[in-house]
Amino acid sequence: MKAASNINFTLEKAKVLGLAGESGSGKTTIALALLRLLPSNAILKSGSVFLDGQNILELPENALRKEIRWKRISLVSQAAMNALNPVFRVGEQIKEAILAHSDVSDKEAEQRVKELLEEVGISQERYASYPHELSGGMRQRAIIAMALALNPDIVIADEPTTALDVIVQAQILLLLKRLQTSKKLSMILITHDLSLIAEMCDNAAIIYAGQIVEYASTREVFRNPSHPYTMGLMAAIPKVYAPKTRLASIAGSPPDLINLPRGCKFARRCKFATQKCVQEEPPLEEISPGHFSKCWYAREIGQ
Ligand SMILES: Nc1ncnc2c1ncn2[C@@H]1O[C@H](COP(=O)(O)OP(=O)(O)O)[C@@H](O)[C@H]1O
Ligand code: SF4
Ligand SMILES: [Mg+2]
Repeated sequence: MKAASNINFTLEKAKVLGLAGESGSGKTTIALALLRLLPSNAILKSGSVFLDGQNILELPENALRKEIRWKRISLVSQAAMNALNPVFRVGEQIKEAILAHSDVSDKEAEQRVKELLEEVGISQERYASYPHELSGGMRQRAIIAMALALNPDIVIADEPTTALDVIVQAQILLLLKRLQTSKKLSMILITHDLSLIAEMCDNAAIIYAGQIVEYASTREVFRNPSHPYTMGLMAAIPKVYAPKTRLASIAGSPPDLINLPRGCKFARRCKFATQKCVQEEPPLEEISPGHFSKCWYAREIGQ
């Protein structure tokens, strides 16, 4: 059995990198792999994750847990809204996290939680509320407060607004953007929604079958998409000012990530596929400065 993944990117300081791809493309798995949080039956076969020159995948579990996760890199995991423990007060849960990871008194930790709650737009009176007493949007704000509790440098937000209605979604995105800018956070924003990438991200990586198939600045990806999969995703976005037409969709579904076909993983769904595509896997190649595409014909189709 051969598992997918061919990921190579640099997260720039104080910038937002978007990971986009349809459901099942392996985005969450990449986020979990970065922090070595994959389930115990998963195998990280190769690769490295460098933070300040140190490969954190080589650290002993204890050091990773104590020094890196949460303190340096925190994760707002998918469906995090349900991650709050229903039987503990929200403020106490965040306080426990602070006490477990840093050397502060109970009083100081409580004060820090109250400041954090205000920072994410929750009144500090809510410190004593139980999760069920908060709305979905407020629970997500509390989760963001928890992610920021130890002043991390990097936040990975996995579909942070998917479960929310559109109005609350916009508020949470604004909050994330404001916090990211004011705290100069580096952020990886994972989403299946390209419009979020356009709104929030400096750079974008398009993921297909556990691999990056296109990578560039967001502006470049939108102006000059150079992979058929990216083009398909873009064609599926409704255009407000264009004449009404039937929305395009990408026929078929992603391959089984455990048994990947040889050649280009997108070949079965690609209207440009040739015999070469089916037989040989294209490399992720720089087709113009800073713009990478994993397609044999990127230069031709990207024009
Ligand atoms: N690199 C990989 N190798 C093997 N299986 C993978 C890999 N990446 C993802 N999967 C599997 O594919 C499924 C979907 O992955 P997931 O990361 O949840 O996708 P997404 O977050 O994009 O919806 C999961 O069952 C996961 O275990
Ligand atoms: S390599 Fe071939 S099959 Fe793959 S995306 Fe490019 S044209 Fe399509
Ligand atoms: Mg996911």
